[in-house]
Amino acid sequence: MNAKKQKISGFSIQFRNLMSTTTILGIESSCDDTSAAVVRDSYLLSNIIANQEVHKTYGGVVPELASRAHQQNIIPVVDRALKLANVSKNEINAIAFTRGPGLMGSLLVGASFAKGLSLSLGVPLIEVNHLQAHILANFILEKDAANHVPEFPFLCLLVSGGHTQLVLVKDYLDMTIIGQTIDDAAGEAFDKCAKIMGISYPGGPVIDKLAAEGNPQAFVFAKPRVKGYDYSFSGLKTSFLYFLRDQIQTSPTFLNDRQKDLCASIQKTIIDILLDKLVKATKDLKIKNIALAGGVSANSGLRNTITSEAVKQKWNIYIPALKFTTDNAAMIAITGLYKYRQGEFASQDIVPLARFS
Ligand code: KG4
Ligand code: ZN
Repeated sequence: MNAKKQKISGFSIQFRNLMSTTTILGIESSCDDTSAAVVRDSYLLSNIIANQEVHKTYGGVVPELASRAHQQNIIPVVDRALKLANVSKNEINAIAFTRGPGLMGSLLVGASFAKGLSLSLGVPLIEVNHLQAHILANFILEKDAANHVPEFPFLCLLVSGGHTQLVLVKDYLDMTIIGQTIDDAAGEAFDKCAKIMGISYPGGPVIDKLAAEGNPQAFVFAKPRVKGYDYSFSGLKTSFLYFLRDQIQTSPTFLNDRQKDLCASIQKTIIDILLDKLVKATKDLKIKNIALAGGVSANSGLRNTITSEAVKQKWNIYIPALKFTTDNAAMIAITGLYKYRQGEFASQDIVPLARFS
């Protein structure tokens, strides 16, 4: 093996020549999914995700419980990811982990585990921004798949439970946020409206399912007026709450009778809000390459709408496979691979960040 040495935070590590095979172990623990994945030269070898059912009954993620569940899950999840990939620990070139943003207690579990493993194996540690990773999920290659990856530059609509951003992506590691939510994220809008209807967390996927059988034109909700490419979703949740309260006062069975129409209408409103700014930005920036990323990009209404809008606007669109939209370590590993190629390594004294400035 053609190896070279690099000194990181006072100890020497070995890593293989950058031209040879590169195998990255990715670890994700920012919220309520514990995940580990192995990527070899952009190709995904394994991606294991342990979901945490415990939060369902609480209507949202309980940080203490999430952190405890990560501690229980992390070793078996990493073990399974390596076994499935048929990769031994000494074949790993670097360990990439989510530094943030996310829940501090959850991030600490993944970061501590990654640091320990990096020390014991003598391989570099790579810190990953969770949001950048959601975008780079569009570059995960799979054997026997179509592997349709974006061309630079592209505009990415990043829609997750904690973030909603329009990001101009010039290269793998060269991204600029041109707009973002000033309050709630799109995923929060889905989850909070679902909670108002008594649907358990996370409500986004349930609204998606029910909306498929409802009428999206049944109810009209006011859209926010926000300047530039920024978004706002907190007003929508409040008007949905008051609308439902008023309707139930006159007809107590309203929610039961009209739930599918309510889901379809609220989903359409969220999608319209997302698309308005996206279309505006693509016209202003004269950009035709558009990508989706984040948990809400699993939404079938959003996927369909953007696909038909692409025909109208002559966009080239890139939508990650469903399994790479919500939180997963494959996106952490692929981001780690690009950072590895740039020699962007972290030191052992790195700390997780709940928020990035
Ligand atoms: O990216 P993600 O897994 O976690 C964060 O980084 O936040 O996104 C989770 C969010 C949740 O709000 C969830 O309700 C939403 O993505 N989500 C969906 C769908 N699947 C997940 N929202 C609407 N429709 C879906 N099919
Ligand atoms: Zn996420």
